[in-house]
Amino acid sequence: MPRNAARVAVLISGEGSNLQALIDAAEAGQLGASIVTVVSNRGGARGLERARAAGIEALHLGATRGQARADYDAALATLLAPREPDLVVLAGFMRILSPTLVALYEGRMLNLHPSLLPKYPGLDTHRRVLEAGDAWHGATVHFVTDELDGGPPVVQYRLPVLAGDTESSLAQRVHKGEHIILPRAVSWFAAGRLRLAGGSVMLDGRALEAPVSVDEGVALE
Ligand code: GRF
Repeated sequence: MPRNAARVAVLISGEGSNLQALIDAAEAGQLGASIVTVVSNRGGARGLERARAAGIEALHLGATRGQARADYDAALATLLAPREPDLVVLAGFMRILSPTLVALYEGRMLNLHPSLLPKYPGLDTHRRVLEAGDAWHGATVHFVTDELDGGPPVVQYRLPVLAGDTESSLAQRVHKGEHIILPRAVSWFAAGRLRLAGGSVMLDGRALEAPVSVDEGVALE
């Protein structure tokens, strides 16, 4: 890894399969970035083991009972600062961040969300898609702003909802797509191809009018 490679901090809460996709891409030389730390708000998160197995610092920062969001986020900011991340990736981090922390990493924080935003911010996206009878579902990587799951989208993975799909089949297919689009977005950022400017997503010097779209079964070039 070149010494000036982008430094990435990954925040997780659980399984960490998306973290694993980032680790795999880094090990394959496809990320152009170095994962410098992994932080979980849950101690037993499997993602912490994945980080350790890859030789990456793995930290548990739990919230104490009744702790105010601002105080937790201040502790998180204190933990992140000396690690000097160029980019913070929320990969299944199940906490809402306070405006102060979001502002600290404005244009340098990406989130992964299991829906085709702006549809279905929040939880239970697979169930909500099935209940609505939607024809399409997917996942989105977006820059983080104060609006929950509402920041400017960068790339989306789209899949058709099939007859017989269940929450768990959709979850599996969405995960597969997430493992494609998250490393891709991080690699764009690390290569200096992706940035946020005045609220617009710039990719290769052009403002995106719509997120880059990847359909199930069709690989990105
Ligand atoms: C992903 O589906 C992501 O979209 C959501 O949480 C899940 C995390 O999965 N925010 P994993 O921990 O990366 O396996």
